[in-house]
Amino acid sequence: MQGKQRVFSGVQPSGNLHLGNYLGALKNWVSIQDLYENYFCIVDLHAITLPQDPKVLRQKIREVAAVYLAVGLDPGKSVIFRQSRVSGHAELAWLLNCVAKVGELSRMTQFKDKAQKGGAEAASVGLYDYPVLMAADILLYNAHLVPVGEDQRQHLELTRTLARRFNGLYGETFIVPEPMILEVGARVMALDEPTNKMSKSSPTPAGYIALLDGPDVVRRKIRRAKTDSGTEVIASPDKPAITNLLGIYAATVGRLVPEIEAEYEGKGYGAFKKDLAEIVVEGLSPVREKAYALLNNPRELDEILEAGAQRAREVARPILHSAWTKMGLD
Ligand code: AMP
Ligand code: TRP
Repeated sequence: MQGKQRVFSGVQPSGNLHLGNYLGALKNWVSIQDLYENYFCIVDLHAITLPQDPKVLRQKIREVAAVYLAVGLDPGKSVIFRQSRVSGHAELAWLLNCVAKVGELSRMTQFKDKAQKGGAEAASVGLYDYPVLMAADILLYNAHLVPVGEDQRQHLELTRTLARRFNGLYGETFIVPEPMILEVGARVMALDEPTNKMSKSSPTPAGYIALLDGPDVVRRKIRRAKTDSGTEVIASPDKPAITNLLGIYAATVGRLVPEIEAEYEGKGYGAFKKDLAEIVVEGLSPVREKAYALLNNPRELDEILEAGAQRAREVARPILHSAWTKMGLD
């Protein structure tokens, strides 16, 4: 793996992994995994910034691991591990906490959105600090590239700011990472409300297609997905619902939206949705089947994660040490 640039990314083991996670992030990770030295993390410390039932969390961690493998991430090519098992993430986050500013964190839109639900005063300090932990995740490996969905752009900008600030204050230590955000699939919207992003924390399962949903559930959700007025299968700003469905179609089959529009000219929403459902079912069925097979053997999953954590610790240690040294903590 020597000489390759490093990639770092992660998914939270909270809620159900969905089509947005797949099209915006996981699918891209698989397609680039041969080109880079990859670190794909299950960010369990991020998940607990909102309350989690320990039993459910334990299961969700394995589910994310199973889905990582089922979509095609290969432990021979990518380091797959849990964030909480590499203590350097939390340790570097503390160093970066002392470099980050309250004003910066207060401007993070994801915090504002999530905190809004229960009131910012009642939000956990962890939720507020979430972007600093994310910066630590990335900088701990001196990753060059971070493949994520559009919603993470602001967090990555903060990561870059913190890396530059640390380097400026204490001397060159961290690589300033670049976001890697796809054109198609980077922002999949909810099926029941296409002005909201498809999200794990969606109040109703009708809004998202879980990667582990069975074929009939997928078909039903797509059939019931909101549509716009009119009948034409065309992407446009005043047709957010059909624009989203076209985006899902394009990202799933790896084609461009205009080609698909041309194919459905004069055919109407019904025919389009029917085909879309089959395409999504076809795309997800192998993932679901493989993931369930892996979940039947949790010990093997745990072993893969532990082996990944060991490799991650080896890479992270000297980088954490260099940050300590620069700050005078050696
Ligand atoms: P999360 O579900 O917040 O842990 O996100 C994991 C990854 O999936 C990140 O790279 C997100 O940017 C990406 N992602 C989450 N939701 C969507 C969405 N609706 N559309 C595209 N990408 C998404
Ligand atoms: N915040 C990301 C999300 O919710 C998950 C995440 C945590 C992440 N640490 C990361 C993504 C580091 C990329 C790199 O989607």
